[in-house]
Amino acid sequence: MLNINKISAISESVLDIKTTQLFMGIFEDEDIHENISKLNASLNSIITNAVKIESFSGKSGKCVTVYANDNISKITLVGLGKKSKFTSDEARSVGANLTSIANTSKLDSFSIDAGSFELSGNFVQAISEGVVLGSYQFLDYKSKKKNKNTVTSVQIVGNVDADAISTGFNVAQGVGVARDMGNHPANILTPTYMANYAEEIAKDGNMKFTVIDESKFQEMGMGAFYGVAMGSAEPAKMIIAEYNGAESNEKPFALVGKGLTFDSGGISLKPGAKMDEMKFDMCGSATVLGVMKTVSQLKPKINIVFAIGATENMPGSKAQRPGDIVTAYNGKTIEVLNTDAEGRLVLADVLSYIVDIYKPTAMMDFATLTGAVLVALGDQASGVMGNNQEFIDDIKNASELTSEKVWQLPLWDSYCKDIKSKIADIKNLGRNRLAGTITAGAFLQEFVGDTPWCHMDIAGTAWGPTSPSYQPKMGATGVAVRLVYNLIENRSK
Ligand code: BES
Ligand code: MG
Ligand code: ZN
Repeated sequence: MLNINKISAISESVLDIKTTQLFMGIFEDEDIHENISKLNASLNSIITNAVKIESFSGKSGKCVTVYANDNISKITLVGLGKKSKFTSDEARSVGANLTSIANTSKLDSFSIDAGSFELSGNFVQAISEGVVLGSYQFLDYKSKKKNKNTVTSVQIVGNVDADAISTGFNVAQGVGVARDMGNHPANILTPTYMANYAEEIAKDGNMKFTVIDESKFQEMGMGAFYGVAMGSAEPAKMIIAEYNGAESNEKPFALVGKGLTFDSGGISLKPGAKMDEMKFDMCGSATVLGVMKTVSQLKPKINIVFAIGATENMPGSKAQRPGDIVTAYNGKTIEVLNTDAEGRLVLADVLSYIVDIYKPTAMMDFATLTGAVLVALGDQASGVMGNNQEFIDDIKNASELTSEKVWQLPLWDSYCKDIKSKIADIKNLGRNRLAGTITAGAFLQEFVGDTPWCHMDIAGTAWGPTSPSYQPKMGATGVAVRLVYNLIENRSK
């Protein structure tokens, strides 16, 4: 849960505000900002005295606090390092740091002086995101909730774009949703739970909402998704929400998520160690839900279809067997050589269904698809691949702007032949241990037709990373919500 539920812009001078804690920025290689000088003059030079006594040079990560007066209880000077190194992602981290400083002092609100932090352009959105993301904690399952987060509201003081603050706030809300979804355990967050939660967001955002139950999968021709769902007592769901922000006849942009609420591996059972982590195998769908949340609040001028394939992958007497052959929605037959390569089977049907029914302008999917992406890129970047370089370049651009790292992997034809099956059209495995992330991507490509499409393997980035400081201390990160919302803004009118 995110504890901060409000950020506002205050267009007053720092000399006129009332706040318990005011943060002001100092760059290592710049003179003290005039806002600090003005306040300093009105406070008998306590700021410059403290800077001198503490030999404070504005080094990044260093702070000095002075106790001021009745209007401003304390002022904390925040070292921002060299101006040239202060990127928007640095601003995002600083935002999270400010929240944790104020939480340590048990404050319920604080203020940021926009002037001395030199906040403009996308830095305003970034620091707003950081401030809110820094207030994330997941305490749902603690019977005695030790909420260390006290701050619920923040003010940004100065001449800043209120829309940028609102965008940052709402993007962070989406990330919060994605983190919460990821962190729930599989006994609570079932496909049914996910469908109900998605419906709430959809209603809130005036979206058309449909759930297709597992009982319909076979008659609809979704044999690949059905094969995975068979082994579980929890009914699988295909969840679809249609957001209309543009002319109703305009084709939508499509976002598809892998929603394995638990992946045991099925009959090709995973080893016991860390199997608990496979509750995170729905983080692709968490990203989709997170973006849905942000879209429901910010209402961009674009049509979007959100789709999730939600199921468990369980072993059992009804589970599919290695060697089974299933037929996907687009008619392609698949030899299931390993039931643990289930994500691509679920996505095969969801992707081809979305292409067929909605004819999207472009489609992106998010999936914790392969362990191999962790070997290739660790937990720092998501792997991306697709069939349209222009679209992938847009994604790379959004990645640069939001500092959610992606790295493109090639989908050369020579890889694509690795998934040919001797007995069916394709198989759900590539060559043993070779280019596992790419062959999974090559598999998905079989189900998107000519639609410009990009697959994002988030198995390394969806949980685990705890830095920069706006990342959570543990659990799901809500990866790609920021990136995708940026992409949506660029595709909107
Ligand atoms: N959900 C896993 C991928 C995964 C593994 C994510 C580890 C995060 C951490 C996926 O369903 C899976 O099991 N993939 C297999 C594919 C293999 C059998 C071709 C894998 O990566 O081992
Ligand atoms: Mg698996
Ligand atoms: Zn999986």
